[in-house]
Amino acid sequence: MQVVKSIEDLRTARKAFKGLAFVPTMGNLHAGHVSLLRLARTHRTHVAASIFVNRLQFAPTEDFDSYPRTFQDDCKKLEAEGVDLLFAPDERVLYPQPQSYIVEPPSMANDLEGAFRPRFFHGVATVVLKLFNCVQPEVAVFGKKDYQQLMVIRNMVGQLDVPVSVIAGETVREADGLAMSSRNTYLSIPDRAKAPQLQAELATIALAVRGGNVEFTKLAEESVKRLAAGGWKPDYISVRRREDLASATAGEKQLVVLGAARLGATRLIDNLEI
Ligand code: PAF
Repeated sequence: MQVVKSIEDLRTARKAFKGLAFVPTMGNLHAGHVSLLRLARTHRTHVAASIFVNRLQFAPTEDFDSYPRTFQDDCKKLEAEGVDLLFAPDERVLYPQPQSYIVEPPSMANDLEGAFRPRFFHGVATVVLKLFNCVQPEVAVFGKKDYQQLMVIRNMVGQLDVPVSVIAGETVREADGLAMSSRNTYLSIPDRAKAPQLQAELATIALAVRGGNVEFTKLAEESVKRLAAGGWKPDYISVRRREDLASATAGEKQLVVLGAARLGATRLIDNLEI
């Protein structure tokens, strides 16, 4: 695996690869990332990854400083997956001056995650566009675990005519149902034991909706109450239309239930397609 840290070296290295699929990450790689790398490989002969903890998508109160940085370990995992190229810039490379050109995502980005993490998607969309411009992949793979992020990026690529096909990878779960996430490592032992409840709540709603229940708001409210009773601080549980994440209405078939809640200081998100 070739590891490049500057845009100049990346551009030189990039020339060697004809068909390139790309998996952008913030590092601290787990089985979820590995499944995205494997999916990328099914789309193109060569695979590139990036590791960059993007300050622009963290609010000042969030965990930018403490976000797990495990570069050596990540490199071993990428090597083991046969990744051809790793772009691992530091902040001076991607943000040599304060980033004042910012992607302004549509109103969808102010809902759900965006309502609790203002400007999160501005930061994500901006860095992803920059990474696409640097790496110039033909295909890029994003996990469904960050469902709204996937939608925002798909939307951006479509509206800005970015020549990259966006592919969605399925969420990888622990044996007890907890969606894999770098932030799971923040959970205390008792909170880790509680954590699968979020996924279980989403599954309960999905089951009810599949069974014909269209009282989406009531289902979500009941779930929020159960989570709160279990010691969580829920941000939202919501049934949405998959296509654009608009509120679900009765009769629609392609739905997704999304949720975010805090256990102690750790904020977990998850979703299930219905
Ligand atoms: O999903 C992530 O890890 C990040 O949001 C991404 C897409 C790498 C942008 O920083």
